[in-house]
Amino acid sequence: MTKYQKSVDFKRILIVGSGGRENSIAWALSKNQLIEQIYVCPGNGGTANFEKCICLNTKSADKKSIIENCKNLKINLIIIGPEVPLAEGLADEMREAGLTVFGPGKDGAQLEASKEWSKAFMVENKIPTAKYWSTDSEEEALNILERYNQPLVIKADGLAAGKGVCVSETIDQSKEAIKEVFSGKFGSAGKKVILEEKIEGPEVSIFALCDGEKLIVIPPAQDHKRLLDGDNGPNTGGMGAYAPARLINDKDLKDLTEVVLIPTLEGLKKKKIKYIGVIYAGLMLTANGPKVIEFNCRFGDPECQALMPLMGEEFASVLYACARGEIENAPKLTFKSHCSACVVAASEGYPENPIKGSKISINVESNPSLQIFHAGTTIDKFDNIITSGGRVLSIVAQGETFDKAFDLAYSNLKDINFEGMQFRKDIGYQVRDI
Ligand code: AMP
Ligand code: GLY
Repeated sequence: MTKYQKSVDFKRILIVGSGGRENSIAWALSKNQLIEQIYVCPGNGGTANFEKCICLNTKSADKKSIIENCKNLKINLIIIGPEVPLAEGLADEMREAGLTVFGPGKDGAQLEASKEWSKAFMVENKIPTAKYWSTDSEEEALNILERYNQPLVIKADGLAAGKGVCVSETIDQSKEAIKEVFSGKFGSAGKKVILEEKIEGPEVSIFALCDGEKLIVIPPAQDHKRLLDGDNGPNTGGMGAYAPARLINDKDLKDLTEVVLIPTLEGLKKKKIKYIGVIYAGLMLTANGPKVIEFNCRFGDPECQALMPLMGEEFASVLYACARGEIENAPKLTFKSHCSACVVAASEGYPENPIKGSKISINVESNPSLQIFHAGTTIDKFDNIITSGGRVLSIVAQGETFDKAFDLAYSNLKDINFEGMQFRKDIGYQVRDI
């Protein structure tokens, strides 16, 4: 253990969010002996399953109460999980109140919260991305489409919970998608539209932990955005993931750090944005080289659930050092050499209209290589676990190979049940023998 780990104080942590991502971060941090208490705000039905972890029932939109709670509970480190509170400036208000926060301010969160801002930023900083047009006029958008005369990818500018993107197959579909964005379906997120050249290739996500000045790269992961096997059906928040993603090797990751992650942090610095938190770049590996299709300002969900079991014990110290702007004082972050697999169990009707309120039965035997991370769950007055959202549980397992990791995850999924439970049977097909 380094001097830094011993001498600093991150005993009391608060994690903002209620999903599988926040559940997995709480689990990873709970393993650190130096941490005494972890509050998850508001947390979910699985928060209290982990040692030292409890729910704090304040809504993340209620910034004043959260900040008051952090002060009363003597919280040393806050980690903000989801994009919405980041985009709404929760980290800024917390910092103004003297709190130590891992998560960017409103300025940095624009990387994710405005696709127009993010595309202009990429062009400005020569970060490879698909060609695009942006407009706030439906007529102009239709004109651009007519001139281009090929199907385009249509994106609402603002945050739309992963639903604001239409990868159209025909020009008519592109037209429909433009009309949909301007119909008000996405509220203020749809005031502007981004029309993007359609690119092709496998997708992979890369991540850096930043302290405003420097960054640490963690292993890449692969998400599975479509609802159904074979990458079919509608886009979702993510139905499963695995890490480390084998699509890119160490050398590729080094190159991508030079071409994407460092220029991103440097570009933010040029704009006087002190970016503390995760830079998540979603890439498409095209025939013309890797291109960024999106930035997120936080860990991915469910990529985070697959990544957390790979983090060395220093993870908490590294987040704390980032939050304090002193990454150089943190111990070296190590990663376990396992393969990690994550399969999401979702409610019937997800992603459009998830049916909630079903009783969940979990009869899995405890195993150090297996984690059940809760997302859309709650506990009723009889102590039953009940579904309360679209993505309900993440079943995560590790093994020496991806085959072993996925076998363990899928064999335990058989012992988890709720009415209408749906999950993909082919998560990790890229690295499994199926
Ligand atoms: P986004 O929310 O921007 O990540 O987009 C959601 C999904 O749409 C991505 O994971 C891709 O599968 C797809 N997508 C986004 N942009 C493009 C593009 N320019 N060309 C092809 N597919 C895209
Ligand atoms: N799984 C993709 C995301 O978190 O945006």
